[in-house]
Order: sequence, then C-alpha cells, then structure tokens
Amino acid sequence: MQQIIRPRRLRRTPSLRKLVRETRVSEESLIWPIFIREGENIYEEIPTLPGQYHYSPDQVYRAIERCLETGVSKVILFGLPKEKDEIGSGAWAENGVVQQGIRAIKEKYPDFYVVTDVCMCEYTSHGHCGILCDHDVDNDKTLEVLAKTALSHAQAGADMVAPSDMMDGRVEAIRDILDENGFENIPIMSYAAKYASFFYGPFRDAAGSAPSFGDRRSYQMDWHNGREAMRECELDLEEGADILMIKPALSYLDLIYQARERFDVPVAAYSVSGEYAMVKASAAAGLIDEYGVMCESAISIYRAGADILITYFAPELAQAIRKGDIG
Ligand code: PBG
Repeated sequence: MQQIIRPRRLRRTPSLRKLVRETRVSEESLIWPIFIREGENIYEEIPTLPGQYHYSPDQVYRAIERCLETGVSKVILFGLPKEKDEIGSGAWAENGVVQQGIRAIKEKYPDFYVVTDVCMCEYTSHGHCGILCDHDVDNDKTLEVLAKTALSHAQAGADMVAPSDMMDGRVEAIRDILDENGFENIPIMSYAAKYASFFYGPFRDAAGSAPSFGDRRSYQMDWHNGREAMRECELDLEEGADILMIKPALSYLDLIYQARERFDVPVAAYSVSGEYAMVKASAAAGLIDEYGVMCESAISIYRAGADILITYFAPELAQAIRKGDIG
C-alpha cells in the first residue's frame, strides 16, 4: 500500500514541530493580576492562590521585579482597602489602595504598563459590585461611582482601565468622564462577557470580596447563555470599549472563538482564580504535571482566538515562551 499523505511527517523533530506551529504567542500578550493590600511591609502568600501574594504599596516593586525577570510587561491591579463602607468610597479615594499602588509602581518603573480593575466589590461593606437599593444593586447610581473610580485610577497614573462590575452603560459612563478630564487616550478593556461563575471562589478569599448576602446573578451573566455574550460585546463596543474581555476562559472557549470571529478589536480572556487553583491543587496532589497543564491550557485559550491572556501564571508562561516550550 502506498501512503501518500502522512501527517506524521511534520511531527518528527522538535524543530519541525516548531516550524509548523499554528498558534504563536508572545510574552507581550500576558497580563498578570496582582493584589495590593493597604498597609506597610506586607508580602504574604495568599492561601487560596499558592504562589500569588498580597503586596502593600511599598512592597509592590517585588511583583514588578518578578515581571522584569521573567518577561511580563503588564499587570492588572486589584485593591484590598483597610476600611469598607456601604458605597465603597475607598474605590475612588485619592489616596486609595490601588491609587497608592499605581503611584508606587510608576515612581520606580515609569514605563511599566499598569491596568486597573474597576469595581466596587472590594470596597463595599456588603461585597456587592455597586450601590445597593434595598437588596439589589442600583445600576444607574453605580455608574457614577464606577466612573469616579476609573477617573481616579487614570489620575494616579493608570495606563488602562478595566471595568468588571457588569452594570449596563458603564463603558459609556467611564469613557465620558475620562474624555471630559483629558484622558481620551486611556483605553477601556471591558469585562464584556463576565459570567456569574463558581470559578471566582479563590479570588473572593484573596480579595475579601465575597457578597455578604445573595449572589451576583442579577448583574453577572448566566452561564447557560452564549448569544447574550455577543450582545454584551456589541453594546460595549458601541459604548466605546477598546478591548473586549471574556471571563472565565477555559469553560468559555466557544465565546472567545465567536468574539474573535465577530469583532475587529482585540479579544482578551481572563483565566480566573479557580482555573489556577485547580491546576495548583491537582499538581500538589500528584495528579497532573503542573508545567505541562499550564502550557497546554494557555495555548488552548490562544488557539480559541484570544489575543491577550490575563492569568496568574503569567510569569511562568513568559518563561515557558522564552524557553521555546510554547509560542
Ligand atoms: C471584581 C472581580 C472579580 C474577579 C475579577 N474582578 C470577582 C467577582 O466578580 O466576584 C475574579 C477574578 C478571578 O477569579 O480570578 N468584580
């Protein structure tokens, strides 16, 4: 029998396999989430996210040094304030924790790219992502505080803002206030399709942001729905979003693929805390090869169509790319 077509021909050697790789990735497309905790001298591992730390503003240089060592060039900041209140006023305080974190980074590393997460849940005493009215989050009242928060991040020196609250109209509200204040060049990466996911569990411990009653299903999306994600993306684009994000990533590859096919803007995927913690826990139990699973999962997200990957594994992935194991 004559075999003319032999797909194995192109799989024979490492160099040949690298030649024909369909998915090429760069460390430039990685964003590392980091947690800034108000206080001093804090550099503490987060129990639910082994390998991730809380940094006080004076210690955040440690995270940036790790980035520079490994090849990561962008971070997204989350804040843990000392005090919380009903309306989350710490979110837009001039000397709020994220604002301090931005300034600390920019003082030492003025060119390092800093994105900020814009949301209220880490700052409200009830842990919801906005202003409450009875037992529900009031959409339109929340827009005002989100906009103020985004503005204060830009004023502190943030390079990009990323609203993660899922209120209707927040991209427009943020775009308006940024433009009115001379920040028309600050891009908005919207968490356009963000699901009410069980995969956020470890983050809520890490950020102290679990809702004290109820859940987030009246504002984050129902995971039965995919078409609705495209609608959310469309609306955010109309409101002025520059980058669309799908979150979580691994269980939502279909939506990353669809968003990449449909929209001509960069698509980001957020591989969330639960995805990271599952890999860490199963590797610790000896069930999987952590490095291999990390690489394979990241590439599957890029293969689905992500241009940008937000992941707790960013430093390790950047190293894997530099070594040529992936990318
Ligand atoms: C804030 C926010 C959350 C995450 C990112 N921004 C938590 C939530 O919506 O409850 C989750 C990130 C992760 O799990 O890694 N709203």
